[in-house]
Amino acid sequence: MKEKLFKKADFNEFVAGDSHFEKVLGRGNLISMGIGAIIGTGIFILPGIVAYGTAGPGITISFILAAIVCILTAMCFAELSSTFPVAGSTYSYGSIIFGQFPGWLIGWALCLEYVLGVSAVSSGFSAYFVSLFNSFGIELPKALTGPLSPSNGTFINLPAVIVLILIYLLLRRGIQASTRMNTVMVFVKIAVVVAFIVIGLFYIKPSNYRPYFPMGGLGVVKGAALVFFAYLGFDVIPSSAPEVKNPQKNIPIAIMVSLAVCAILYVILSAVLTGMVNYKNLNVSDPVVFALQSVGLSKATFLISIGALAGMFTMMLNTIYGGSRLIYALGRDRMIPDAFGKIDPKAKMPILSLNTIALLAVLLGGFVSLKELTSLVNIGTLVSFAFVAYGIIKLRHMENTPKSEFKVPFYPWLPAISVILCVILMTQVPLNSWIAFIGWFAIGIVIYFAYGYRKVN
Ligand code: ALA
Repeated sequence: MKEKLFKKADFNEFVAGDSHFEKVLGRGNLISMGIGAIIGTGIFILPGIVAYGTAGPGITISFILAAIVCILTAMCFAELSSTFPVAGSTYSYGSIIFGQFPGWLIGWALCLEYVLGVSAVSSGFSAYFVSLFNSFGIELPKALTGPLSPSNGTFINLPAVIVLILIYLLLRRGIQASTRMNTVMVFVKIAVVVAFIVIGLFYIKPSNYRPYFPMGGLGVVKGAALVFFAYLGFDVIPSSAPEVKNPQKNIPIAIMVSLAVCAILYVILSAVLTGMVNYKNLNVSDPVVFALQSVGLSKATFLISIGALAGMFTMMLNTIYGGSRLIYALGRDRMIPDAFGKIDPKAKMPILSLNTIALLAVLLGGFVSLKELTSLVNIGTLVSFAFVAYGIIKLRHMENTPKSEFKVPFYPWLPAISVILCVILMTQVPLNSWIAFIGWFAIGIVIYFAYGYRKVN
């Protein structure tokens, strides 16, 4: 039994299975996919509450610390994806390096991250959408703008459902149509962030930076664990491997560039924000809008809403895309029924997998309140990040691995530090979320023994 649980998957079989995809994505598409998935709701919400309650103006340092954790893991991702450019990202690396059962558990954690992440962001999208209409004096019916909760008078979150269906239809039109749309939206949201920074620079009051660390150094570290969420998303880039031209080279570059661009924008934005408004006044859920209003620029808030909506749209687009490729990979390896691993010959994509993740997102985003569940996204991600970093250490001991175009520097220190940092951040996740996450793992184990274990030789 042990032998079967830890039987390593064959990389060449994965490559053969993935060969029905069309190689259409270039480096630029990948960078825009990465930025598209990373900049979502986080940067428009977190800098306010985290500066107020945890880090003070030192939140800028929190953003730098979180970026360092992500960049270390991103380097490990880069090496793995360059060595094994196959669909399924962490799940596939896990199956090749650790074996079938650990691979499945990593894939199962990733499914949670993708489905919950998209559904939670779709609720955020709906909230921004409703308030945008309100700002024009149009009141959308309450019954149609919240999760199924008759006692609160809400039945369906229609804006969330509609945007998810639109994204689904766009993805069905093919990867090229979706990447074009993605690139346009990415430019819009970057333009909005840059516009805020440039405008805000004129309103910085140096006195707002004193004291810089009102809650001490520990506050800054805790702040880093909270703003970590804003950097998540770059892991969708390697999911696209079979559809990428020269993936060994382009994927590592795209991971690093997209993360670096977002880190620079986040760090500057948080510095400007806490310079414009004293952190003691930032206990608000829309700090960027609040900062503009507090310096008398209420009209510019419309601009921020557009940027936030564009941000959330691309996050959902890229995550549904990455999730469909993950479900495809699970089907390809017969961990779930192999119909999920079929590529439609005409559409050149795994239609059943795409339909499944879109349907799950619509059901959760449209009818369930997800507020309490979002920290589960952080655990799912941290677990898969820790495996990725540890995977590098195992990889370097493997024989006959394909040649990689990128190697993690300072081996074994860098991956080891990366694992330790992920574990430190995991300790910051609330206990309730851990319990829910363990429950999710237990379901995964049951499914594995009921299906995958029996199907895979
Ligand atoms: N990084 C993504 C966001 O901030 C998850 O929404």
